[in-house]
Amino acid sequence: MRVRDGRRTMNVNKLWLFALWGITLSTQGHAYSQPLENFDYTSRDEDIVYRAAVVEYRAYDDMKDGGLAVLKENARMFVEYAAAAKQQVIFFFLSLSRVRPHRSMSVSPAAFASKTQALPDPAAAAVLCNSTDTSESVEAVRVLSCAAAELGIYLVVNLAERVPSARECLDSGFDVYNTEVVFDRAGAVVAKYHKKSLYLEPGFTPGSQDDKEAIFTTDFGVTFTLQVCFDVLYPGPGTSNVVERGVKDAIMSSYWVDELPFLTAPQVWQSWSEGLAVNLMVANVHNPEEGALGSGIFRGLTSQDSLYTYDPNSGSKLLVGEVSQAVPEREDVGMGIYQEATWIPTENGDGEAEEKNGQPETEGREIRSERVFLHEDLERYSSYVLERGDGAMERSLCHNDSLCCSVTYSFPADLTDNSSFLLLAYSGVSEKGGGAYKLFTQVCAVVYCLNENVTSCARVEENGPSQKTSFRAHNVTGDFDTSYIYPSVFTQDFKLVDASLWDFESSFSSEKLVKSTLVLHEEVDNLLSLTLFGRWFDRDP
Ligand SMILES: *[C@@H]1O[C@H](CO)[C@@H](O)[C@H](O)[C@H]1NC(C)=O
Ligand SMILES: *[C@@H]1O[C@H](CO)[C@@H](O)[C@H](O)[C@H]1NC(C)=O
Ligand SMILES: *[C@@H]1O[C@H](CO)[C@@H](O)[C@H](O)[C@H]1NC(C)=O
Ligand SMILES: *[C@@H]1O[C@H](CO)[C@@H](O)[C@H](O)[C@H]1NC(C)=O
Ligand SMILES: *[C@@H]1O[C@H](CO)[C@@H](O)[C@H](O)[C@H]1NC(C)=O
Repeated sequence: MRVRDGRRTMNVNKLWLFALWGITLSTQGHAYSQPLENFDYTSRDEDIVYRAAVVEYRAYDDMKDGGLAVLKENARMFVEYAAAAKQQVIFFFLSLSRVRPHRSMSVSPAAFASKTQALPDPAAAAVLCNSTDTSESVEAVRVLSCAAAELGIYLVVNLAERVPSARECLDSGFDVYNTEVVFDRAGAVVAKYHKKSLYLEPGFTPGSQDDKEAIFTTDFGVTFTLQVCFDVLYPGPGTSNVVERGVKDAIMSSYWVDELPFLTAPQVWQSWSEGLAVNLMVANVHNPEEGALGSGIFRGLTSQDSLYTYDPNSGSKLLVGEVSQAVPEREDVGMGIYQEATWIPTENGDGEAEEKNGQPETEGREIRSERVFLHEDLERYSSYVLERGDGAMERSLCHNDSLCCSVTYSFPADLTDNSSFLLLAYSGVSEKGGGAYKLFTQVCAVVYCLNENVTSCARVEENGPSQKTSFRAHNVTGDFDTSYIYPSVFTQDFKLVDASLWDFESSFSSEKLVKSTLVLHEEVDNLLSLTLFGRWFDRDP
C-alpha cells in the first residue's frame, strides 16, 4: 500500500490507524493475534505502520445533573472525537470520569460513586453494546463499546471502575480503581488495567494485577502495554513489560502535574520513550490551572520526531500521527502523515465535527491560560555555576561521592547575556506529592537559572519571554548505578528539542556503573535543561 502525504510517498505493508483518548483502527490487512502466554513480543513484522490519535481533553464536569450525566456527556464527546478521527485513525483514548485525583474526596461519597462504571472481565470478551444489562453502572461504557464497534476502531479509555469487593470495611460494597480499558473493533473489552501507583487519589484502591494483564495485541499485529500517569516513574507495568517482555509500544492516560526543571509532561513522555526506545502515546487531561496539559505521540523506537501539544490555551485537542515499527528508509524519514488538528464536536451529537485549527473550545467551558508548576527542591543537589570562557570547557561534579556528572560546553563572554547555567548532580531520595511518595533518583543536568543561586534555576515562569544566550551545551555524561535513565532536552519556551537532534547512549562502564551520555548536535538558543533522569527502583525507601 502506498500512502501519500502530499510531500512524500511512503511504502508500507499495512497501514493502521489509531486514536488515543479514544482509538480508531482501519480494517485492511490480515488479522492475527498472539497468545498472551507468549511473553516475548520482540519479534514483530517490521513493516507495520499504524496511525494513532490522542485527545488532550478538557472534560465536562458539571455535576448539576449528577455523575452519570457527566460520564454520558464525556462519552458522547469521545465518540465525536473518535468519529472525527476515524477517517485517519485507529486508536483513541481518554478519561471518562475525570475524577480529580487529589480532590476525589472533596466530593461526597455518593457523588464519587456516581462517577464510576462497571466493566466486564476481559476473559469473557463481552460486548457491552449487545448486553441486556440496563443498569446505570454500564450506561456510559456501553456508549463507548457501541462506538468502537460502529466505527471499527480500538478505543482506549480511562475511567473510575467499580468492582464488587468482599472487604468488610467498605460501606459501598465495591473498590474503585483508576482503570485503563481497551475496547476492540467489535466493541468487546479486551484488556483492562488497574493503576498501581496512585498519586494522592483518596477513594481509589491501588491495582494488584500481574503486569502482563496490561498487555494486549491488536489484530494488526502490534502488542501494546498500558500504564496510567504516575506509573511511568515506577517499575511496572509499562517499564517491566518493555524491559522483560519486549513490548515496544505503550499507551497511557494521564493527569500529570508539571514539575520543573525535569518532570514537565513533555519531558517525561519524551524521556521515557527515548530512554526505553519505545513508542508512547499519551492522552493527558487538559487542565492548565492545575498544572495538567501536554499530550502526544512519541516515537522513541525509531527516534523520529514527536508530535505533541503543550499549549495552555489549546482547550481540547486531537492529534493524529503515524507510528512505525522500524526506522523507515532514509528518504522516508520525516513526519509521514503526522498532523495536528483541533476538533470541536458539535453540541447536538450528530457525530459531525469540524476542524478549527488553533481555536480554543468555547461553549461556556472557559479556557484559562494561568498555569502552575511544581518545582523540584534543587537545594539538595550538588551544583556548580558554569563559568564563561573561550572554547569548549569541561566541568565535573559529584553528589555525595556516589554520582558524578560532567558537561562539555562553550559559553563565550557576552555583555548582553546575563543568564546563568548550573551543572546539577543528585543521587538520593526525591519526594513527590508533597512528601507522600519517595523515589530514589539519580540526576545529571544542566539547567538555565535567573542568577547563580540554585533556587533561581528553571524559574522561567517568573522570567517572561525566554532569553537568548550564548551558552552551548555539547554533551552531558554521568556514571549511574541504574540503567533506567531517561534523557530529555527542553527549552525556555517549553518546547522539546526533537530527539533527532541529539543522541543518547548508555553502556556498562564497569561491573555495576552505567555510563550515560547525551550529545546535543544542534545549537539551542534558549536552552532550559539538558537532563539525564535516572530511577534506581531497588533503592526506593
Ligand atoms: C453483537 O451484535 C452484533 C450486531 O447485532 C453482532 O454482529 C455480534 O455478533 C454481537 N456480538 C456478540 C458477542 O454477541
Ligand atoms: C550518601 O550515600 C550513602 C550511601 O548511598 C547514604 O547512606 C547516605 O545517606 C548519603 N548521604 C546523603 C547526605 O545523602
Ligand atoms: C538580563 O538582561 C536583560 C537585558 O539584557 C534584562 O531584560 C533581564 O531582566 C536581565 N535578567 C536578569 C535576571 O537580570
Ligand atoms: C538563594 O536564594 C534563596 C531564596 O531566594 C535564599 O534564601 C538564599 O539565601 C540564597 N542563597 C544565596 C547563597 O544567596
Ligand atoms: C563532548 O563534546 C566535546 C566537544 O564538542 C567533544 O570533544 C567530546 O568528544 C564529546 N564527548 C562525547 C562523549 O561525545
